[in-house]
Amino acid sequence: MINIAILGMGTVGSGVIRILEQNQQQLKDCMQTELNIKHIYVKNINKQREVDLSPYHLTDNIDDILGDDLDIVIEVMGGIEPTISYIRHFLNRGVHVVTANKDMLAAHLEELETLAAERQAALKYEASVAGGIPIVNAINNGLNANAIHHFMGIFNGTSNFILSKMTHDNLSFEEALQLATEQGFAEADPTADVDGIDAQRKVVITSYLAFNAFIRLEDCDVTGIRDVSLRDIKLAQALGYRIKLIGQASYDGEHVQASVKPCLLSDKHQLAHVENEYNAIYVDGDAVGDTMFYGRGAGSLATGSAVVSDLMYVISQLETKKHTLPPHFTLGKCQQQPGRR
Ligand code: NDP
Ligand code: HSE
Repeated sequence: MINIAILGMGTVGSGVIRILEQNQQQLKDCMQTELNIKHIYVKNINKQREVDLSPYHLTDNIDDILGDDLDIVIEVMGGIEPTISYIRHFLNRGVHVVTANKDMLAAHLEELETLAAERQAALKYEASVAGGIPIVNAINNGLNANAIHHFMGIFNGTSNFILSKMTHDNLSFEEALQLATEQGFAEADPTADVDGIDAQRKVVITSYLAFNAFIRLEDCDVTGIRDVSLRDIKLAQALGYRIKLIGQASYDGEHVQASVKPCLLSDKHQLAHVENEYNAIYVDGDAVGDTMFYGRGAGSLATGSAVVSDLMYVISQLETKKHTLPPHFTLGKCQQQPGRR
């Protein structure tokens, strides 16, 4: 029996519960153990929910959870404080953590990876970059034979959704943002989406994954889509271009150069045809060459898919390693990749 708690039950938390319930038997067969959701932590326990939480212990008292005996905590509440204090607490106690919180990770990744490694706890964050696309796993595992010197792509679903709706449906910026918020793609504070900060956070996390280099948010230049007008979009379209918010980073073995900004892409470019909340990321490996990862970058079930896959991975490790994880497990990759720090 694996005891877990879920912190947060909004867009992503609801997706996690739906997947765990809908695919119950399949997940049970894969995990070969029972999953016991002991607590669900929210701000307002009286709020109307999209999912039926009556089978679970819903609480607004974090002490119910901090003092309990848990194997894994899923953090999908967002924000930096008080969230990071809770995450430190759990990692310190050797509780494994699955999180979707790119805001917290982009600012504290090095500290949390170090703490997790010291405490031999897993820290998994597939959902923090590109929602449902398994890009973290792809870079950590599928591409770990490569030195990576460059990646680029569309990292923010909300801004891509807005640009798509402005381009194809002639919606205004405000109308498109409203729609993205209603569909659960936007952050609690959507300025993070439209000002490029959410993409900036993901570029910081991906730089760590791809180059093994910790960079700070301020090391990644950022310009959002706030000043892109319908006129700009139509003019670009008439000339055979699309405007896309592109995040990219290059690594020369010593320094990372990173940016997020609106770019003109030829409409023959593959990224020009990535629409709505979809993301797509090119990763250039020295052995494999260009690879491209495409899929839903935001939304309840897409992001829930990434969270549940991390959960299943941690459980599989617990089961096979009898609750003892090797130290490198939390780092997600070998530290001595050729060409990496
Ligand atoms: P929501 O705003 O929809 O949900 C947040 C949940 O956390 C709510 O249930 C809220 O409680 C709870 N919560 C927030 N603050 C507190 C607090 N201080 N104490 C207790 N409970 C709290 O957010 P999302 O589900 O959209 O996002 C969650 C995380 O996932 C964020 O880190 C986000 O960046 C990340 N993410 C989101 C994606 C998406 O598509 N939405 C995609 C990838 C990552 P209550 O319901 O009572 O208000
Ligand atoms: N607000 C984010 C986006 C959610 O629109 O991409 C997924 O990280």
